[in-house]
Amino acid sequence: MKREEPNVEKLRVMSVFGTRPEAIKMAPLVQELKRYPEIESLCCVTAQHRQMLDSVMEVFHLQADCDLNIMAPRQTLSSITCKCLAGMDDVIDRMKPDLILVHGDTSTTFAGALSAFYHQVPVGHVEAGLRTYDRYSPFPEEMNRKMVGAIATLHFCPTENNRRNLARENITEGVFVTGNTVIDALKTTVRRDYTFSTDELNALPYGEKKIILVTCHRRENYGEPMKNIMLALRQIALENEDVELVYPVHLSPVVREAVQTYLAGTPRVHLIDPLAADEMHNLMARCYLVLTDSGGLQEEAPALGKPVLVLRRETERPEAVAAGTVKIAGVVQEEIAALARELIRSPAAYERMAHAVNPYGDGQACRRIAEAILWHFGRRAAPPADYCGSGEET
Ligand code: UD1
Ligand code: UDP
Repeated sequence: MKREEPNVEKLRVMSVFGTRPEAIKMAPLVQELKRYPEIESLCCVTAQHRQMLDSVMEVFHLQADCDLNIMAPRQTLSSITCKCLAGMDDVIDRMKPDLILVHGDTSTTFAGALSAFYHQVPVGHVEAGLRTYDRYSPFPEEMNRKMVGAIATLHFCPTENNRRNLARENITEGVFVTGNTVIDALKTTVRRDYTFSTDELNALPYGEKKIILVTCHRRENYGEPMKNIMLALRQIALENEDVELVYPVHLSPVVREAVQTYLAGTPRVHLIDPLAADEMHNLMARCYLVLTDSGGLQEEAPALGKPVLVLRRETERPEAVAAGTVKIAGVVQEEIAALARELIRSPAAYERMAHAVNPYGDGQACRRIAEAILWHFGRRAAPPADYCGSGEET
């Protein structure tokens, strides 16, 4: 692959993100890039999420150099994409980045990459190469990732498996296996002596009862699947007196309506507002089990030794399934409740899943990405060595 000519100026690397998970996973990278004298690390937020993004910015002490402030209630996929594209024109003209970094698979990711392409600015795709091969699940994320893969010059894959996925699409140049930056983030937030600033979390009966952490928000789960998931959660709480379900509810009105309709008032179910990332990570470190349709939680919980039941029909993150810490529970009420029942009641079944595995990273992903960027722009003699994820014990 043709590398860029060395340039006497500082490299202007602009990270573009807009939702909570992108922010959590890009925060350590934006900080890492600031440590290199050859790089000017810039940060543009679309604010596809407003409150949930601001919370992450605060936890990681990040400040945006520009903020497109696009969020609207019940926004559509087209409206997010259009507003991002329109806003990015001016940002790229003003900031003149040498490289634009986008993360993952959201509408911000896709629009950020497309806009960079329109301005002929190379794109680095962080968390590249995840695939389900079902274009409607996750929707629209699977297609977002593929389209960004087609645009990007640099591809930062969390795992070797992700690199193989890109190779199937004939993407073999500019590909680096770095680990997932979420593990870098987790290493800065989780502490043994952590005290929650949310009183309700300090008051939970850790040790006496089984704390089950729940999240659910995906678009492909809207409607019937989400109804089934909510009814399963209700069933789990009613059937098992020794559990407490803690559910920080996403701010999406669609999700909040489903939660209100099917779960409000259920004994042993704590419906709370979204948690700040440090609160969430430390709650995960202390819980018994995780039930989720989130991508990020499927990566974080295994690193903390917590079994995960995935409330979806598939996953683009098969590594922790192979390692035995994650199971695909599907979206059928009785099947979810039965899998949870087994993990709650059978110590042997629980122990089989509850071991810490690290297929997604070793906390060095951001350093590898920074070094790969510097190599690409002629500032390093050699690219970084790949991360060899092994699922080793933490
Ligand atoms: C988005 C991403 C999804 C990611 C998820 C992480 C797309 C298409 N989807 O989905 O990949 O998994 O974020 O959470 O990019 N809202 C607020 N305040 C906030 C955030 C959201 O009020 O801070 C409400 C708004 O009414 C908004 C709605 O939630 O319209 C949905 O947000 P949106 O970003 O469109 O979709 P998510 O389901 O959050
Ligand atoms: N998260 C958080 N507070 C919450 C719920 C989730 O900080 O109340 C974190 C979680 O630990 C993970 C990220 O948000 O780091 C996952 O985001 P989300 O589930 O919204 O999106 P996904 O990963 O599915 O794209």
